[in-house]
Amino acid sequence: EALGPLRGWRALVTSGPTHEPIDPVRYIANRSSGKQGHAIAAALARLGAAVTLVSGPTQEPVPAGVSIVQVESALDMLAACQDALPVDVAVCAAAVADWRVKATASQKLKKEGGSLPALELAENPDILATLSRAGRNRPALVVGFAAETEKVVAHARAKLARKGCDWIVANDVSPSSGTFGGTNNTVHLLRGDTLEDWPPLSKEEVAQRLAMAIAEHLVGTG
Ligand code: PMT
Repeated sequence: EALGPLRGWRALVTSGPTHEPIDPVRYIANRSSGKQGHAIAAALARLGAAVTLVSGPTQEPVPAGVSIVQVESALDMLAACQDALPVDVAVCAAAVADWRVKATASQKLKKEGGSLPALELAENPDILATLSRAGRNRPALVVGFAAETEKVVAHARAKLARKGCDWIVANDVSPSSGTFGGTNNTVHLLRGDTLEDWPPLSKEEVAQRLAMAIAEHLVGTG
């Protein structure tokens, strides 16, 4: 049993990519490795929180002391997050696919026939926005991420307002940053109107600092 400032507090963390099926053997995905989200789950657990980690498909080991729920698609991830409520804090680090294939084929699509398959897309639910507007089930603190390739802080501010979360961790995910799949991350923490630029850190250090800030906020106001 962990003894830390977050002992007795419940946390939900999302991590990794989602896989959106096209047919039984193919899917749409992205380059998230789950490193950042898993590190956050581990850091919150080290501070004593009871952590549920809802993760898309990744190669990352399950952190010690964390309850894992493995999912594939955005729809599954949303359902698993709703099942994990109520929690005191939710951190949405997953790279959830914005779109899914509208009508998943029940059999493998065949190349024969000459015509190219047209993939019609449907919009996925926004898990962060849903948690932020969960009424009496809303976590006391909802933390989102913003993955941007330009105007990182400006776009993150807009996302914070649009999604209704309390804090947002903005990171540059341009290919040159190496953020997706890499071991380091350079983030900007937006807490309402307050902006903090953090130096380049390992994803574990980002997680540790974020977990400490969450503990200060919850325990300070709780
Ligand atoms: O997994 P790694 O390789 O370690 O990489 C880490 C990371 C780059 C994936 C991570 O640091 C990160 O930025 N995660 C958020 C990725 C993302 O999809 O960002 P976004 O700006 O598209 O989405 C904004 C926020 O809404 C995020 O909190 C996201 O989890 C959430 N979202 C988005 C779409 C959706 N349908 N549901 C959501 O909850």
